[in-house]
Amino acid sequence: MSKNKMTRFDLLKLKRDGQKAVWITAYDYWTATFAEQAGMDMLLVGDSLGMCIYGYSGTIPVTMDQCIWHSEAVRRGAPNTFVIGDMPFLSYQVSVEEAVRNAGRFHKEAAVDAIKLEGGRRVCSQIQAIADGGMLVMGHIGLTPQSSGQQGGFKAQGRTAETARGVIEDAMAIEAAGAFALLVEAVPPEVCGIIREKLGIPVYSIGAGWEADGQLMICSDVLGIFQAFTPKFVKKYESLGQKTVHAFQQYAQEARNGQFPTEEHAYKMVEGELSKLKNMLSE
Ligand code: KIV
Repeated sequence: MSKNKMTRFDLLKLKRDGQKAVWITAYDYWTATFAEQAGMDMLLVGDSLGMCIYGYSGTIPVTMDQCIWHSEAVRRGAPNTFVIGDMPFLSYQVSVEEAVRNAGRFHKEAAVDAIKLEGGRRVCSQIQAIADGGMLVMGHIGLTPQSSGQQGGFKAQGRTAETARGVIEDAMAIEAAGAFALLVEAVPPEVCGIIREKLGIPVYSIGAGWEADGQLMICSDVLGIFQAFTPKFVKKYESLGQKTVHAFQQYAQEARNGQFPTEEHAYKMVEGELSKLKNMLSE
């Protein structure tokens, strides 16, 4: 049965009612299909696809075209779920004009409902211009993988009073610039709680604890597919990586020893046609 797609107002109501929104990343058609069946409130086509799908060591190489292709597939798989396209590195940093054009590409080519971009006060002019262009923008602060070099690697942020104050100031600036929601990554729960109190817009967490208005997780982590590293905040709900290897091994073993395929997996020739064929071939 199809459900009604969330709107920004539904998300706001969830926050005001003290109910959590739940979302997950998706990069392809079938994951999006299952996520919609599972009743996710939102899907993020994250630039984490660089690591989870393409095997890059980070998100920097990811291009706009890759993000658009994967967003299109996710849109087809989850037509009734709120989909967010993630702006990849250099799609919004160079100029406000490029930021608006690339945010618009996500909407025109992949029919997303919103876009997300990383950074605090330094990307507020981009957030404002995209919002002025009539699009929904989500901010993303705390650990920001595209600028993790400046942050000293994939490290938790806001763990001291001074740095926490910086994260809170970023959050307030993003709301003032016109973002409809904010994602906070890898900061202590108390800091996320303060942000949530201060902001009228929904504040979501990935690795920022239970004080948020909702949670995001990476699908490849939840399913136990991503093997390169496991951040502290990840909980694996399945071990599909191991299960996949096991299924592939069983298939290989059966194909090698002749247990597969059998009659059950074979097409039958039309009655009498095999002897006709043999006669034809012996003429
Ligand atoms: O790309 C992504 O999946 C993200 C999350 C890490 C928040 O931006």
